[in-house]
Amino acid sequence: MRSLKKLIINTNNAWIKTIFYNSIFFPIADIISSITLGAIILYGGMQIVNGNPFTTVGQMISYTMFIGMLFNPLRQIADKFNEMQMGMISANRVFDILDSDSDVQHDGTKTASHFHGNIQFENVRFGYIDNEEVLKGINLKVNAGETIAIVGATGAGKSTIINLLNRFYEINSGAIYIDDENINDFQLESLRAQIAIVLQDVFLFADTIHNNITLNNPAITREDVIVAAKKIGIHKFIKSLPNGYDYDVKERGVMLSSGQRQLIAFLRAYMSNPSILILDEATSSIDTYSEELIQKATETITKGRTSIVIAHRLATIIKADKIIVMDKGQIVEEGTHQELVNKTEGYYKKLYDSQFATEVE
Ligand SMILES: Nc1ncnc2c1ncn2[C@@H]1O[C@H](COP(=O)(O)OP(=O)(O)OP(=O)(O)O)[C@@H](O)[C@H]1O
Ligand SMILES: [Mg+2]
Repeated sequence: MRSLKKLIINTNNAWIKTIFYNSIFFPIADIISSITLGAIILYGGMQIVNGNPFTTVGQMISYTMFIGMLFNPLRQIADKFNEMQMGMISANRVFDILDSDSDVQHDGTKTASHFHGNIQFENVRFGYIDNEEVLKGINLKVNAGETIAIVGATGAGKSTIINLLNRFYEINSGAIYIDDENINDFQLESLRAQIAIVLQDVFLFADTIHNNITLNNPAITREDVIVAAKKIGIHKFIKSLPNGYDYDVKERGVMLSSGQRQLIAFLRAYMSNPSILILDEATSSIDTYSEELIQKATETITKGRTSIVIAHRLATIIKADKIIVMDKGQIVEEGTHQELVNKTEGYYKKLYDSQFATEVE
């Protein structure tokens, strides 16, 4: 907290300084240009009145114009200097990110060309920062083609599990296997190319829907996109947007609702035909129309493919082959919906009673 306050105060001071210098520089520049103008008119006027044959009214007027041409560019340079400084700071941030080294070891040699999709977590322990374990010994098995749903309170470690499967972080101990191979043995790019993720917060580029789906890969044609969109049932929805597939979604996709952004991400994931699909369902509420489309798309996209769904919606949870219930970094229960609601004192039953029971009518 204290450091945030310090940052805010520093930013505040920097801005006040900028505004202070601006408020000194520009009036001074204005005063100088006005004084010069006055001097020219006074001097030139006197010359003309005195009948100096080398000074004419025309000359005097052109000089007053020259003054403007001299001072305006100077003001603009000062202004641009300001912008340049801001640009340099932003560039520094970008370079910092480009220069930062990944913590993840890069020495796997096997190429993952296709997975059947058996996933196994063996006593996986992990913390983002030292001495703060987020996952406290996770044992998990997903069979090829199955859909599992992970449920649990916020902060339980659900998203962390998928971060580790993609090797965004290095685990502290234990091991993760896909098709009985330790994931550390795979080349990082080839591993990640086999896993498609639809995140809680979908990021879209300020570009058309088409380009957001193909990511500017020229090998994917509009035909391909339409065929895939029809398969997962969102072609009509995209067509209903102004300009359809050429609809510009603007910065971060602000022209779409969060549910609609997820639909686009579904299509993006589906196009890459991944061996393993990961879906981190949005926590925010979604309108019923998008909800329906999402349910249908989820069904198509998870069919016959190992899928891990971090589920917040009952409809998704009930359809899963297995439900994993997480609490504070541990798996506390697992089983099908029926098995878990039949437990009298279970965590899932409590969650179901408090969150979902009202949804079922
Ligand atoms: N990048 C990070 N750096 C440090 N701590 C993190 C990071 N990401 C998550 N955490 C912490 O790890 C814990 C588990 O987070 P995680 O995102 O896995 O929760 P979650 O179960 O997905 O929650 P939600 O349902 O809200 O998405 C939380 O206590 C969180 O504060
Ligand atoms: Mg999460």
